[in-house]
Amino acid sequence: MNDFASRLIAWQRTHGRHDLPWQGGTDPYPIWLSEIMLQQTQVDTVIPYYLRFLERFPDVGALAAAPVEDVMALWSGLGYYARARNLHRAAQVIVSEHGGRFPRTAAEIAALPGIGRSTAAAIAAFAFGERAAILDGNVRRVLCRLFGVEGFPGEKAVEKRLWTLAESLLPAQDIGRYIQAQMDLGATLCTRGRPACARCPFAGDCVAHRDGRVGELPTPRPRQAVPRRSARYAVIVRDGAVLLERRPPAGIWGGLLALPEIPEDRTEPASWASERFGLNLSPAQPLGPLTHAFTHFVLELYPVLLQVRQASGSQAQPPRCHAADDGALCWQPLAARATAALPTPVRRILDALAAPDLFAGG
Ligand code: ADE
Repeated sequence: MNDFASRLIAWQRTHGRHDLPWQGGTDPYPIWLSEIMLQQTQVDTVIPYYLRFLERFPDVGALAAAPVEDVMALWSGLGYYARARNLHRAAQVIVSEHGGRFPRTAAEIAALPGIGRSTAAAIAAFAFGERAAILDGNVRRVLCRLFGVEGFPGEKAVEKRLWTLAESLLPAQDIGRYIQAQMDLGATLCTRGRPACARCPFAGDCVAHRDGRVGELPTPRPRQAVPRRSARYAVIVRDGAVLLERRPPAGIWGGLLALPEIPEDRTEPASWASERFGLNLSPAQPLGPLTHAFTHFVLELYPVLLQVRQASGSQAQPPRCHAADDGALCWQPLAARATAALPTPVRRILDALAAPDLFAGG
């Protein structure tokens, strides 16, 4: 498509946004401020903040001279506060290293705190007419769909392709309107959910539209392989009750009562549990394993049944579990398991123990 830029510019003239408060001028300071505020924030939210900020800090010098607390106060409610701190620092760099004059090239602008390549290009295009490509989230989405670019755009190789493509599409003139047009197309028609392809001037050229893949492009971030961990748990049973042990405060099920976890290096669960709890136990019987998904990993639980033959020795036996303030060890009657505060997989193991046919499913 060799007429992309001119068609996009023509579309912007009639369908784009023309009366946003930061549009129309070439002073880089308000353009910079608006581009920073518009990162991850909607236009409607930004407008009142933008107007208040400009009134209080009308130029780079005023911003640089202000206490950072005043800057943060005017930003409060807008979110992503690192943006405000960087804005303030960048104003001070402009004063100390550029004599108070806003740098005039995308490359120099990108060297300021908090300004990435795409934002620097947008500022240089709007303020100085520099022919520099932008690649923000909106533009990535438009290019991936229009040109059928596959692969997650956060990947280096895909990002590189997109930058090359964005640069190859730049018009010779009217760069400011072209940049604004790209932002407008992505924000108003080629949106993430429910794009308005029926109104899109490029529907006839769009690879994603042609192939019915608008919902699939851009390629989403690949799902990370979830780490798996496994552990054995002692299911020590006596007179219809099971022995629970309080978990350490850090880690999974922190501070909750759960089945005792058998250390990885112990090959004989019965002898480990006999020593640990002072019980005379029958040989270990493996129960059906189960899995439980935590946010960052999947736990495979291998329950091991150990029946108490008789309490051995003179060690005092733990009390029955009652409530959350039970001590480090207690006996949980299986019949009362429904009302106990148990981690889900522990409850499932006890349910299966109380109704052995449930074990068939594993
Ligand atoms: N988002 C980022 N920059 C923008 C701009 N100049 N106009 C509208 N939305 C934007």
